[in-house]
Amino acid sequence: MNIYTLQNEEAFVQTAAGLITGLVTSRPRAKLGLATGSTPVGLYAKLIQMHNNGLVSFAGVTTYNLDEYVGLPENHSESYRTFMNEKLFNHVDINMERTFVPNGNAADLEEECRSYDRMLDENGPVDLQLLGIGHNGHIGFNEPGTDLSGGTHVVPLQEETRLANARFFDSLDEVPTHAITMGVASIMKSRQILLLIRGEDKAEIAHRALTGPITTQCPASLLQCHPNVVVLLDEGAGRYF
Ligand code: GLP
Repeated sequence: MNIYTLQNEEAFVQTAAGLITGLVTSRPRAKLGLATGSTPVGLYAKLIQMHNNGLVSFAGVTTYNLDEYVGLPENHSESYRTFMNEKLFNHVDINMERTFVPNGNAADLEEECRSYDRMLDENGPVDLQLLGIGHNGHIGFNEPGTDLSGGTHVVPLQEETRLANARFFDSLDEVPTHAITMGVASIMKSRQILLLIRGEDKAEIAHRALTGPITTQCPASLLQCHPNVVVLLDEGAGRYF
């Protein structure tokens, strides 16, 4: 793992954006694995800015998102499809038909998981998988105790995760109880992983995930087994390094 602590927000987003635009420029048909959550918002804004300045094109890029809530209509303001459209896709020259987000509203969720995996297998591997981390060490929505070999699957969300995400909803009751997520095994197939961790509230989990025992009790710790991981920490998240 290559772990870097960046001194300020601008350096943090600039470094992350530089890695992605460098890849897309050298490989215009790159396959990107994308993530939601508050952590990558600044990165997406930077990518839009670089796109608008003519520094990068996403015209040939295909994207696969990690996860989606179960039961929220696709156009719900808090669905991850809406998030991606609003934070990135609507503002760059990407072909929307090559942006994939699991359909958490599918009539047959098991079939949706299988077909997402088939698509990843047929089109993969992903060149770069962007990740954030939950306070309990989750990646995507792979909660602690996750099955190591898991492909895309439906997961019940832990109370801690629902509470953390309640800030985006009017009340905790509105936070979905389940999600579809790519599995850890699918994530590990990516050629490169870019893990972003921001904020003092993530300092402890960052330290545990990156230096502690490799255990399914902390899904992000499994990334220690991946051969090509770049971790960017801001000063808060990096305080124990
Ligand atoms: C969410 C997402 C994850 C994300 C994590 C952290 O629930 N499913 O992909 O990395 O939790 O979110 P945040 O960046 O808002 O702290």
